[in-house]
Amino acid sequence: MPVVEKTITVSFRHQVHFTESLFAVGNTVLAEVFASGKVEFGAGEAKVLLILDDALAEARPSLSAEMEACFAAMQGRAHLVCSPVRLLGGESIKNSSHWITEVHALIDRHHIDRHNYVIAVGGGALLDMVGFAAATAHRGVRHIRIPTTTLAQDDSGVGVKNGINAFGKKNFIGTFAPPFAVINDFDLLSSLPDRDKRAGYVEAIKVACIRDADFFDQIERDAVALARFDQAPMKELIRRSAELHLTHIATGGDPFEMGSARPLDFGHWAAHKLEQISEYRLRHGEAVAIGLALDVIYARRRGYLSAVDAERILVLLEVLRFELFAEELLFVDSRGSLCVINGLEEFREHLGGRLTITLLSKIGQGMEVHEMDIAIVTESLNELRVRHFAG
Ligand SMILES: NC(=O)c1ccc[n+]([C@@H]2O[C@H](COP(=O)([O-])OP(=O)(O)OC[C@H]3O[C@@H](n4cnc5c(N)ncnc54)[C@H](O)[C@@H]3O)[C@@H](O)[C@H]2O)c1
Ligand SMILES: [Zn+2]
Repeated sequence: MPVVEKTITVSFRHQVHFTESLFAVGNTVLAEVFASGKVEFGAGEAKVLLILDDALAEARPSLSAEMEACFAAMQGRAHLVCSPVRLLGGESIKNSSHWITEVHALIDRHHIDRHNYVIAVGGGALLDMVGFAAATAHRGVRHIRIPTTTLAQDDSGVGVKNGINAFGKKNFIGTFAPPFAVINDFDLLSSLPDRDKRAGYVEAIKVACIRDADFFDQIERDAVALARFDQAPMKELIRRSAELHLTHIATGGDPFEMGSARPLDFGHWAAHKLEQISEYRLRHGEAVAIGLALDVIYARRRGYLSAVDAERILVLLEVLRFELFAEELLFVDSRGSLCVINGLEEFREHLGGRLTITLLSKIGQGMEVHEMDIAIVTESLNELRVRHFAG
């Protein structure tokens, strides 16, 4: 029987802007972004639906008005279809499909088409949910992400994934959809509680561990200042981490994760499970810090990673005041097995194919393994417990 086979090539431009006071008079970043999206047979002024993380709106009561003034000054290029829509941020927004339907309904009501924009301003959870709604309405309307947590600015916001949780599993429903643009505004982090300022550091440490030893050295040198949330080292950490994540996505050869490996998920197999079994008491970044510590100890116990490098990573996380143990690590299921271990199979199933876990052979260099020795994982977990209660 005849077969017709063609290769379909689609390329995406992925722009990440770094700025401050995005909505202030005189800041031209948004106008430039809209100018870059002008369509040839333009439908005139772009329509914009803006969804705003409620915690940020509460912390900065003048922000909605600043946004409206900013768009009012952009006449001819883009206008808001309604006042910024406030939705409760945080993981709960990913735990029900209700919010997706809400955003779809707004897109329908305000006639946002594929050449118009849905902007999400908020933490990684809100961005993941709105990104999924934007990617699925009309099979994809333009989506601009304006991340407002350290983690969303240095990792999740610059990526190409979105999604919500379902069936007790993280990110079960979602798509790969590069955003039209990402705009990192450092000022928007000022209202974050320390907990969320800190949580994002771990994604920078993660990417430094697997990709860039010099960056790891720099974070180590800046650790005390970072623990105080000094602005200059924070900005530099976010910029470099975002750049490394973006470089990996653009040049790593597998932006849509068709294979079974996911190098940027070092430390994440246990983290995703911990987030879920803690019922999201633990933030993503907090869970990743524990997952990273677990895999670092595991790699050392297996002889892949030197004791010196392992200790440097653990100490850095501790100087930054991450808790490296959580009681949820000891939860057992009805068969008496540690719940967190089930995260390995769930991680494999999410990616498909063969189990592939990223570990470290030295700081700056990741390595892949295809099996994890459960006895050694358990020993590593106990070592974390002992270290935690000793310190
Ligand atoms: N799509 C991806 O590639 C990717 C990658 C990594 C993580 N993630 C996802 O990102 C999510 C975690 O994101 P997060 O760490 O940003 O947490 P988050 O979105 O849960 O935000 C934490 C809290 O901070 C609030 N908040 C946000 N910005 C604020 C501000 N500027 N001032 C005051 N409060 C503010 C939020 O309302 C929330 O209560 C997880 O769901 C994780 O799975 C996605
Ligand atoms: Zn992560």
